[in-house]
Amino acid sequence: MGALPAEQRIDPSEEQRREVVRRIKEAADIGEIIGEHVTLQRAGANLKGLCPFHSEKTASFMVNPGRGSFHCFGCGEGGDVFNFLMLYHRIAFPEALKQLAERYRIPLAENTLSPQQREEARKRENLYAVNARAAALYHHFLLHDPAAANARAYLEKRGMPPAIISRFQLGYAPERWDFLRRVLEGEKFPAQIAEEAGLLVAKRAEGPNPSPHYYDRFRDRIIFPIVDQTGRVAGFGGRILGNGEPKYLNTPETPVFDKGRTLFGLFQNRDALRKAKSCLLVEGNFDLLALVAQGIDEVTAPLGTALTAEQLRLLRGYVEEVILVFDGDSAGLKAAMRSVPLFLAEKLTGRVAVLPAGEDPDSYIRAHGRESFNELMRQARSLPEFVFDKLAEQHGLGVDGKNRIIAELAPIVHELDDQLLLRTRFIAHFSERLGISSEQFGQSIGRAPHRRPGPAATPPPPGPDRQNFTLSANEGRIFAFLFLHGRYLPEFLAAGLRENASGPTATILLDLMVTHHEKFIRAPEVLLEYTEGGLKSLVSRLLIDGGTMYPEAVQEESASELIAWLRRDDRRRESDQLVREINAAYQAGDQEKLLALMKQKQALSNGG
Ligand code: UTP
Ligand code: MN
Repeated sequence: MGALPAEQRIDPSEEQRREVVRRIKEAADIGEIIGEHVTLQRAGANLKGLCPFHSEKTASFMVNPGRGSFHCFGCGEGGDVFNFLMLYHRIAFPEALKQLAERYRIPLAENTLSPQQREEARKRENLYAVNARAAALYHHFLLHDPAAANARAYLEKRGMPPAIISRFQLGYAPERWDFLRRVLEGEKFPAQIAEEAGLLVAKRAEGPNPSPHYYDRFRDRIIFPIVDQTGRVAGFGGRILGNGEPKYLNTPETPVFDKGRTLFGLFQNRDALRKAKSCLLVEGNFDLLALVAQGIDEVTAPLGTALTAEQLRLLRGYVEEVILVFDGDSAGLKAAMRSVPLFLAEKLTGRVAVLPAGEDPDSYIRAHGRESFNELMRQARSLPEFVFDKLAEQHGLGVDGKNRIIAELAPIVHELDDQLLLRTRFIAHFSERLGISSEQFGQSIGRAPHRRPGPAATPPPPGPDRQNFTLSANEGRIFAFLFLHGRYLPEFLAAGLRENASGPTATILLDLMVTHHEKFIRAPEVLLEYTEGGLKSLVSRLLIDGGTMYPEAVQEESASELIAWLRRDDRRRESDQLVREINAAYQAGDQEKLLALMKQKQALSNGG
């Protein structure tokens, strides 16, 4: 019996996987990849920018291209190029691997993934594939089929030029129950996949062996493909021609489509957003298209849902300011009030532009033109100002009015009970406007009636929990130095680095460094592969620290300085221990021991 059971055999795919990962890391330019999502500026050996994983106004997000690593000194996220893509796009490792392998043309053997991972990745791929196919079919139908004459007339009536239709790949789903189903069938797309993509609906028959019957979800509707940040069709919106209910039909939630994390137009308009550093947020798909048709490209639209923290976080990758454009008749106060904490949390500037009553961006720009519209946008008020002014208008600023304003703001403040800093900022702003002290405001609002179940309004940044992986300040310097100059590791070990460890973190880290010392000395970033969670955060930080703290030129000096500190520290520890023993001997009245200890202490001090 020669063969081992499967689980004891060395899995050749594991080695292969590591090899592919290594080659990708060598090929990938982490500065370039992160730079596509975060504006980075050079800072010594590093690149620096605003962290995409938490809210901040001053940059504490660092990328070290040499090490292929990143770290945020604000929230602690860190790792390599894979970790970045996984966190940023909320994808799993296999998908990050696949994206990078494709981009750098590194062949990816299928067996580098576990069967389950392969299954999931394949399913998502299939969903994107069927979406892409459907988008193309609907688009083609709109452009060329005689049965789309009404749809073409409708779009023309709404002022959509061909350039917009093709840029947004608008389409038309004909008035048939089996248009998509039949084409997909003919092309051997499994109906279950189209069903899971929300394109077909299954009607399951009763009986012992019910094979479902499929029909098209979108019928007789203008189709808006919803493209995700990476340019893939994630879902669809479908508008009825003319009047009827529901006006829009959207793709239901699927493994690749989540309305709250999607913005219509973001992908198509991304360059304009980056350039303008500002984004108009309009309510309707047609509002967005009408603006783009007039050359205003810095605009996106949520898909009929209230603005979410995720959407703002997406936008923060491109812009610094978001202007909420409200229709004249929807006062927008409720929506604006609810969004204040989101803006505070993301540290994005929020402004509000209100159109005259009865107008939306689409009708306004068509009636008054681009210049007039832009002028309105320039007049947009700051979001908190807007909220306050509206409330003041409604309730007045008498004693009663102020109390009512406070009562209206209370639910928002309570949503912030878990985020003290935001809560304080929010209260500070509004209490100033009300002409009362923050304390008074806080007292009027009182405590939250009860803890709300479920997640807080703004979830904490995703990622590792950073429990207790801490080094003392000087250890931090030593480890940062060692990450830069690994060859000094033996010297520091000899000087007692391990024995003097201030806690388990230093010991764990040293064990890792020693275990992988050959690789570590050559490329310390290898430790990212062996760490998770808080420890990985620490490692990524050290990979950045070294470069900024110890310029190459002073390395010898730094080493001896740090070792001297280590020795001094060693003696201090010894001396502290002696003092404790001396005290104990004194308490116990043990004269003999006391004398011996004092002598020891004396010797130690003289040696220093
Ligand atoms: P609007 O009704 O303002 O949409 O709804 P619109 O695109 O401007 O429509 P027109 O101008 O009447 O043609 C705003 C957005 O809300 C979502 C859509 O994304 C729409 O663009 N919505 C609206 C739905 O998801 N379902 C609906 O039934 C209505
Ligand atoms: Mn509209």
